[in-house]
Amino acid sequence: MSNRKAITVSPLEIEEQKHYIDELKNRIWGKGLKYHIVTYGCQMNVHDSEKLAGILNQIGYEETDEQREADLILFNTCCVRENAELRVYGNVGALKSYKQANPNSIIGVCGCMMQQNEISDYIQQTFPFVDLIFGTHNLHRFPMLLLQALDSNHTVVEVLESEGAVVEHVPVKRTKGVSAWVTIMYGCNNFCSYCIVPYVRGRERSRRPADILGEIRKLAAEGYKEVTLLGQNVNSYGKDLDEKLLFPQLLRKINEIDEIERIRFMTSHPKDLSDDLIQTMAECDKVCKHLHLPIQAGSNRILRKMNRKYSREVYMELVEKLRSAMPGIALTTDIIVGFPGETEEDFLETLSAVEQVRYDSAFTFVYSPRRGTSAAKMKEQILQSEKKQRLARLNELVNKISKEKNLEYLDRNVKVLVEGYSKNRTDILTGRTDTNKIVNFKGDTDLIGKTAMIKITEAHSWSLEGKVAETN
Ligand code: SAH
Ligand code: SF4
Ligand code: F3S
Repeated sequence: MSNRKAITVSPLEIEEQKHYIDELKNRIWGKGLKYHIVTYGCQMNVHDSEKLAGILNQIGYEETDEQREADLILFNTCCVRENAELRVYGNVGALKSYKQANPNSIIGVCGCMMQQNEISDYIQQTFPFVDLIFGTHNLHRFPMLLLQALDSNHTVVEVLESEGAVVEHVPVKRTKGVSAWVTIMYGCNNFCSYCIVPYVRGRERSRRPADILGEIRKLAAEGYKEVTLLGQNVNSYGKDLDEKLLFPQLLRKINEIDEIERIRFMTSHPKDLSDDLIQTMAECDKVCKHLHLPIQAGSNRILRKMNRKYSREVYMELVEKLRSAMPGIALTTDIIVGFPGETEEDFLETLSAVEQVRYDSAFTFVYSPRRGTSAAKMKEQILQSEKKQRLARLNELVNKISKEKNLEYLDRNVKVLVEGYSKNRTDILTGRTDTNKIVNFKGDTDLIGKTAMIKITEAHSWSLEGKVAETN
């Protein structure tokens, strides 16, 4: 069954989906069936997976970390770079024998990759054992699609060409803890020339302030202390709403919610970083003093070809404004090397921009041509070996500066919001400073969820170590 028509999604549809949830519940509840979701890509996808998990939990599936014991396996995919896609093909392909041994199991593939017709077609043809394919715009229709998949011998495919209205009240199963993700807007209007996101996530749509604030108040009541507001370009939040409430005002309103102690957000586009936002960040005590501000490249020639809509000089002015309003603010960034036509001189300008800003950390990427984007058609694509060599040189510099920045924390007492036990070491607690530095230390379980004063004793490139500070 294939359905690639544009379907208008009515906001009432979530009511309709509740009927499917009830029907699924009758079949699934109490059977001890398990699900496993594999998530690729950015926090948007992580949060979408929390919604899928929320729906599955309502139906009566239980989560398992073991893919092999799952009755339902979902791959929530990312297509921002080729290597993410290749991993999906590998991992879905590896399930062929599993499906043969477990014919009643359900295998689903969803997310950004599926929004490209040639890719969803390829998955359908190459892996006919996949039961369900859906995209990013119809995630809330998952109950109906799952029901169809359970009843069908064919792959159920539904990918909507374009986004509908923002859909509210999809159940969410968040990772338990201290910190929660809250999407404030969907999509992107920027069309950076290398990027596939606007094609697979649609145009910018802001959630209504009342829905966002309501969700955050509920999270606060459930015990969450920190929220991270998500959007591809949160700085343009609200521009599409009738209600005149822009991102800085939204931050001020969230800052008033009592039990929330910290507010983070990402990602910010430099072209939309207003003076009002900088002042709001400085004035709101709960807004963390950390900004992720992707620069992408240091050369104006490349920034123009990337369609980033700012120059290196404008970017550096923003950095100065941020640092004079908030001394000590941590700055992190994204950088792409090997964009088409990037010369050694252009690349050296990226290195010098990194030296000029001295980022606390950076996500660095090798340019990956994405079909349908304008950069993929540009001549002068750079050799993979050259790209890799530039990436290594860039990483060396980024890591050296990260370490130096972290060394500045030595012997200082910092406030850490304690998140839980460290992944690999059950005797070590872990948390973050408001500047987003990971701090590991020995301490009592009852510190989890609280803010502790920690004295930093060791600094690495990616984390700090410390001990509970003596208070007197
Ligand atoms: N909306 C966010 C994040 C977009 S994706 C933003 O604008 O910052 C995250 C990062 O992936 C981007 O910042 C960019 O550095 C990188 N990226 C996007 N497309 C890419 C491509 N085709 N090749 C390599 N890196 C890419
Ligand atoms: Fe992609 Fe640019 Fe939009 Fe970010 S701002 S999602 S890099 S198009
Ligand atoms: Fe990837 Fe989609 Fe995010 S393409 S980076 S998962 S918006």
